[in-house]
Amino acid sequence: MASWNFSDQVVVITGGAGGLGKSLIAQFLKAGAIVFASDYQQESIQQLNLIYRDEPNFHAKVVDITQLNQVETWVKKIATEAKRIDIVINAAGICPYDSIEEVTEELWDRVLDINLKGAFFVSQAVMHLMKEQHYGRIVHISSIAGHTGGAAVSAPYAASKAGIISLAKSFAKALAPYGVTVNAVAPGPFDTPMIADFPKDILDKMASTAAMGRVGKNEDVVNAVMFLCDSATSYITGATIDINGGIYMR
Ligand SMILES: NC(=O)c1ccc[n+]([C@@H]2O[C@H](COP(=O)([O-])OP(=O)(O)OC[C@H]3O[C@@H](n4cnc5c(N)ncnc54)[C@H](O)[C@@H]3O)[C@@H](O)[C@H]2O)c1
Repeated sequence: MASWNFSDQVVVITGGAGGLGKSLIAQFLKAGAIVFASDYQQESIQQLNLIYRDEPNFHAKVVDITQLNQVETWVKKIATEAKRIDIVINAAGICPYDSIEEVTEELWDRVLDINLKGAFFVSQAVMHLMKEQHYGRIVHISSIAGHTGGAAVSAPYAASKAGIISLAKSFAKALAPYGVTVNAVAPGPFDTPMIADFPKDILDKMASTAAMGRVGKNEDVVNAVMFLCDSATSYITGATIDINGGIYMR
């Protein structure tokens, strides 16, 4: 893992109880940041609070990012407590594997609500403060499926992740005059609980197709996200960084 310095920066992470979220929390705390994380299940937030019970720079809250009132209340509370928000990482997401024929309206709405609507309204909720600060970093987590469409993963998942790439560009345009950058990363499969149900034959095929000969590790994604959060990367905005070991190259 690269060595980072985010001393006293206020970092907001959604999906904090997930595989990527947990790694980001650990690395940002190690780098000196003040971390506000959320996830939607009480039990997983309790577990996080237990892990970091002696860490004054860690704060966790139950927030369902599909519920706009919960998102707004959470962000207002952070702004009141911490007075600023330097970095936001939209890492919450779900990835169903239903075929196109199996997709119901309910599934479509749920995937788009969590993966796309949630990321939009979290970003909208923080943008006012970032504009006032004249500083900020927002990083969205897209997916290789956002470029390629879904095959193993469901079509609504792929559509939501394509939407994320566009969302990053829209926010990047709106916030560039204020010194705020907004970017996305588009990982191929990497080792978190999300890919526990990923068909093994497809995973093996992706690994063998990748120029690097393997699928991703959590730290591959964490390092790219932290790079985009660094104050030095002030001229990268509206970009999507592919993290797929060269599975395909555009
Ligand atoms: N793991 C992969 O292979 C992979 C590949 C490409 C992109 N991604 C993306 O990376 C991000 C992180 O995923 P991960 O791999 O850590 O998966 P994960 O399943 O371990 O974590 C996702 C987290 O999002 C949370 N979440 C789900 N619905 C929520 C809601 N309504 N409100 C708040 N939180 C909610 C879950 O509880 C979970 O903790 C996701 O956006 C995912 O789509 C993952």
